[in-house]
Amino acid sequence: MADLDAPGRIIVGKYELVSPAGEGGMAVVWKAIVRGAGSFQKVVAIKRIQAGKNADPSFIKMFEEEARVGSQLQHPNVVQIMDFGRDEEGGYYLVMEWVEGLDMFQWVRSYHRAMKVTPWPLVSAIGIEVLRGLSAAHERTTDTGEPAPIIHRDVSPSNILLGVNGTAKLTDFGLARAMDRASMTRPNVIKGKLAYCAPELITGAKANARTDIFGLGVVLWEALAQKRLFTGKNDLEVLLAVRKGAIPPLTGERDDLPGALDTVIQQSLAQNPEERFQTAKEMARALASVLRSTTEHADAEPLGASVRAARTRLGKDPTSAGAVIAPPQNAAPAPDIDVDMGQPEKSSEDLSMSDVEVVEVELRQKKPVDKAPQQPLQSDPPVRGLWEGDDKSVALPLTRKKDD
Ligand SMILES: Nc1ncnc2c1ncn2[C@@H]1O[C@H](COP(=O)(O)OP(=O)(O)OP(=O)(O)O)[C@@H](O)[C@H]1O
Ligand SMILES: [Mg+2]
Repeated sequence: MADLDAPGRIIVGKYELVSPAGEGGMAVVWKAIVRGAGSFQKVVAIKRIQAGKNADPSFIKMFEEEARVGSQLQHPNVVQIMDFGRDEEGGYYLVMEWVEGLDMFQWVRSYHRAMKVTPWPLVSAIGIEVLRGLSAAHERTTDTGEPAPIIHRDVSPSNILLGVNGTAKLTDFGLARAMDRASMTRPNVIKGKLAYCAPELITGAKANARTDIFGLGVVLWEALAQKRLFTGKNDLEVLLAVRKGAIPPLTGERDDLPGALDTVIQQSLAQNPEERFQTAKEMARALASVLRSTTEHADAEPLGASVRAARTRLGKDPTSAGAVIAPPQNAAPAPDIDVDMGQPEKSSEDLSMSDVEVVEVELRQKKPVDKAPQQPLQSDPPVRGLWEGDDKSVALPLTRKKDD
């Protein structure tokens, strides 16, 4: 059972849990080591349903679906599912490729804390990589060539993993539903994170490629503005904001962005799905064309350097193979970096990384930096600011309770 999980525990004789990597609405992700013959060993990620959830059949069904759907996708921009099973006590485990790095929520948070703007070429490059993964899922075919698209349905910052080697991978097709299993999900349950849901999903439309594109649009908008797009005092207000669909121009949030990038993101966020990019490929091409307008590099090398610097800023050990390791639930949160409110903060580690300095060109911010980004009003239950609250998402019907 997952509630017996602890560092050192060995599951089904071959997966040794090393440390918790993070916790979402439905599960805890562990860094683990798989051991094979001789001295063979490999780092993997293991997702475990949280204690107490094992009894819920709909949860189990979702978990099984995640494994089934995910295992059918093989793409460099999709986190590979490697194994799925039940341990000796009946607890489920999902074994995935381990991504040494950060999720996109953490990456943006690191810039926010350092009072730096996120480099727009890197945000665009991440967008292109994610769109490649989405495109592979949307254009999936069966062995006999029949279209069998997989819709992600939960494109959100925490489901985009950025590697220290400069890769960007989409994970958690857990809320995905293959078109060939249309009856899997319970009706009237809005799954996924509300603030990333396309407006037509609220009124009961079926998830499709264009709803995934909308979700990515929200992720990219937020990564560039460094604040939430759709906010509210509670889930209902968030829902109303999504339905209202007011998308402030990004060029009003910071003054270093090419207008063409704003145009692309606005198009991905069009209220009317007909006005959005119709395919992930189409949007990827549009982002690539914006990237051609800059001489700044946005390939794996600067992205990897940026992820490594972000880990340093967040106080995550950049030297261990431990990568994205969150403190145990009762432990004190990772220390905040002290910020000189007058000017962008630089840690000594940052200053020593000349390659990072090249990447992180200090893009001028239009707004004064001594001001916290726009936050929604606090009330009960609050929908906190994306980058500094202790909820990084609003999930329905599941609610996250953790810091990082
Ligand atoms: N394959 C992986 N390699 C490395 N770290 C991972 C991997 N998968 C997940 N993580 C880390 O674990 C965290 C928790 O993942 P999890 O999918 O359980 O929750 P979530 O994505 O935050 O929310 P949700 O329940 O909506 O998916 C992620 O945010 C990420 O930081
Ligand atoms: Mg996830």
